[in-house]
Amino acid sequence: MAGAAQSFMPALFASSPVSAQLPVIAPSLVAWQARHGRNHLPWQHTQDPYRVWLSEIMLQQTQVTTVLDYYQRFLQALPDVASLAAAPADQVMALWSGLGYYSRARNLHRCAQTVVAEHGGQFPRSAALLATLPGIGRTTAAAIAAFCFQERAAILDANVKRVLTRVLAFSGDLAQAQQEKALWALAEQLLPEDGADMPRYTQALMDLGATVCTPRQPVCRQCPLQLPCQAQRAGNPQDYPVKTRKLRRSSQAWWLVFLHDAQGRYWLERRPAQGGANAIWAGLFSPLVYPSEAAAAQVLAALPQAQQRHDLPVVQHVLTHRDLFLHPVVVRLGPVADDRSLPGIHPADGAWCTGPQALALGLPAPVRKLMLSFEELFTPIK
Ligand code: ADE
Ligand code: SF4
Repeated sequence: MAGAAQSFMPALFASSPVSAQLPVIAPSLVAWQARHGRNHLPWQHTQDPYRVWLSEIMLQQTQVTTVLDYYQRFLQALPDVASLAAAPADQVMALWSGLGYYSRARNLHRCAQTVVAEHGGQFPRSAALLATLPGIGRTTAAAIAAFCFQERAAILDANVKRVLTRVLAFSGDLAQAQQEKALWALAEQLLPEDGADMPRYTQALMDLGATVCTPRQPVCRQCPLQLPCQAQRAGNPQDYPVKTRKLRRSSQAWWLVFLHDAQGRYWLERRPAQGGANAIWAGLFSPLVYPSEAAAAQVLAALPQAQQRHDLPVVQHVLTHRDLFLHPVVVRLGPVADDRSLPGIHPADGAWCTGPQALALGLPAPVRKLMLSFEELFTPIK
């Protein structure tokens, strides 16, 4: 296997450490697809780019079983690119209705009109030109070019990323453009030598990702790449692909307690410089922050001073990976001899600030906005 890989390698890549170990996977994939792949899908036995394009756009965000019906109905109504280009937008949307992600339908329509207006009604015959059309990204362009024109163009959708990162034990973080680019380059090096194998090879990668090399429980025993697959050998397919960003959005509620003393000052604390789960607002000044109403109430109950509590409307603060729902509570304290002795609160981290003093500090934007609104809320101090 290693010997074959060496002789297969273009000299250009021989110096790269990763490509020096690149396995040869195309022949096994092509043979597997013929026996075990999906070979009876209605968009397969055609080289009509209109049909292949339509199916690829539908399949981008929709399951094969759902696409089947829509695909046939769409083709019956609009059998070629000229009829789609000439169709009213309402008809296109009606045919798409239920498939979701409707920008796909609008781009589909625009793409057909571009093919008619700028390409004489014929889809361009290269992946590079196809990718210039509305709604056709690099993978879709490559799939059309591979299926219809046997072009040696690589696809790299989510399924293929999973398969290839596992086979190669590619541990680069795909959230980084540079790593994604490196994987594209590897995908290109893995292509079959003969363009005639491209349709089956491309379908093989799609089928393998959908049926064998699945996200959670890949069935490595049934995989044609079991021998060369490095993740299988190491026993950790589930560790690939690596992608750090795009964490699922979460939401959190914070109770912000603004202590307001008898002299009209606010208690503000400096947040920890950084690190931990609460890196938000690091180093800035904020009122007391509690993760629940109960936690806030517990601290308030321990304060010796008489209080007036004002609960303000919830403020939604949108961060990159989470939504913060801020529950502002303004607590007006009665006069005390030493207002620095607050049980459960750490005076060393904070200070009593007049409104202008507070606004001169580094405040998180929602806190600043809230404090500016307080001016109207409180009567002048006696
Ligand atoms: N998903 C995207 N393209 C596909 C195709 N040609 N066949 C099956 N599933 C797909
Ligand atoms: Fe995926 Fe397993 Fe095949 Fe590797 S051997 S490509 S992990 S199914």
